[in-house]
Amino acid sequence: MKFLGNDMITLEDGVLKIDGYDARELAERYGTPLYVMSESQIVRNYRAYEDAFREYEKKTGKDFILCYAYKANANLAITRLLSKLGGGADVVSGGELYIARLSKVPPEKIVFNGNCKTEEEIVMGIENNIRAFNVDSISELILINRIANEMGAVANVAFRINPDVDPKTHPKIATGLKKSKFGLDVQSGMAMKAVKMALEMDNVKVVGVHCHIGSQLTDLSPFEEETRKVMDFVVELEREGIKIEDVNLGGGLGIPYHKDREVPTPYQLAEVIINTMMEYQDKVDLPNLLLEPGRSIVGTAGVLLAKVHHIKETPYGKWVMIDAGMNDMMRPAIYDAYHEIVPCVFREEREVVNIAGGLCESSDVFGRDRNIPKVKVGDILAILDVGAYGISMANNYNGRGRPRMVLTSEKGVYIIRERETYGDLIAKDIVPGYLL
Ligand code: LLP
Repeated sequence: MKFLGNDMITLEDGVLKIDGYDARELAERYGTPLYVMSESQIVRNYRAYEDAFREYEKKTGKDFILCYAYKANANLAITRLLSKLGGGADVVSGGELYIARLSKVPPEKIVFNGNCKTEEEIVMGIENNIRAFNVDSISELILINRIANEMGAVANVAFRINPDVDPKTHPKIATGLKKSKFGLDVQSGMAMKAVKMALEMDNVKVVGVHCHIGSQLTDLSPFEEETRKVMDFVVELEREGIKIEDVNLGGGLGIPYHKDREVPTPYQLAEVIINTMMEYQDKVDLPNLLLEPGRSIVGTAGVLLAKVHHIKETPYGKWVMIDAGMNDMMRPAIYDAYHEIVPCVFREEREVVNIAGGLCESSDVFGRDRNIPKVKVGDILAILDVGAYGISMANNYNGRGRPRMVLTSEKGVYIIRERETYGDLIAKDIVPGYLL
């Protein structure tokens, strides 16, 4: 049996294996809930982009740089692995920039996103001489210029434009519609105004144009529309005598959360983007190409293992209660996201069940009316495709520590994040003296 997108998962004699390791044994040895990240899958996902977009370098002589979006999963082992593979970083906070530097990402491969960068974060970006701040507003541009001036530096800036493209994804993860909070509107001339302002400033250097339209995109046409809108803007800038070195096309390729629905591959994405870029070769000197994927690099590489503690039959259905909860993985609770859930031992008999975590929230449900092989108390369930926006969005709600995380690799299994303890839950709390 094959799991679409999860090449690291195999089913051998009815037993689920991750990179060849028996999932039940991993759960037994490292405890549950447990995030398992597959090194081989991350490497495959990363290399697919590198292979696919190398064509752009060949055709144009310009660089392709993959800036991995840290928000998807900023565990230090994962970010270090990607940095070792040659990946850059898309960071959205001082914290993520700190992790990128610890992961030894060269500064010329770091871009800084976000619509509310603070002074402290801007100082940090300038100190690290990053490739670009993706500027989200005129107010931010003015602040970057002022801070760079105080520091006697010149900051590289790219402009995040709002192209008004419908990404055809979940509304909560669409980022480039005109009413979205992100970016500088192109149509009204705001983006052009910002670039022209920057040219008058002494302490910023205009290097690029950036765009991001949304996440979990499973249709390639929005990418084509985005590329055209960005390149049309680049042409407009060139007409004004402004040369752009980098174009950063955000918008995250989707992954096959539903195992019966294929999604486009990085190769298909590359074809669309490169062909569209090439249409502009006679109009402008083509720029370096940056992409900032997160989900499609790590999403399929992660599995959340959880133990069944109780099974409850009600007149309205059967509930399987597991020890992972919405605090460990929020996507189903907040986006109604679908994740495949399979037992680690496939019994012949099947049944329809609801699968829930143990938090005091009705939305703490991982799956409803799932037809899965029959499970018993003590069994281990695997929630698939949780490598992106799983641990990175996990929290301590209901007094629960975040789970442990392991990395399966050819060299063995490594703990890459320790399970949080009760002590961790209160580590930052302070009780005023008069209450002692
Ligand atoms: N760059 C920017 C500026 C972004 O806003 C995002 C995602 C990315 C890159 C990475 O996109 P990806 O390749 O991962 O699609 N928590 C949500 C996803 C929010 C994504 C927001 N921005 C989820 O669990 O689906």
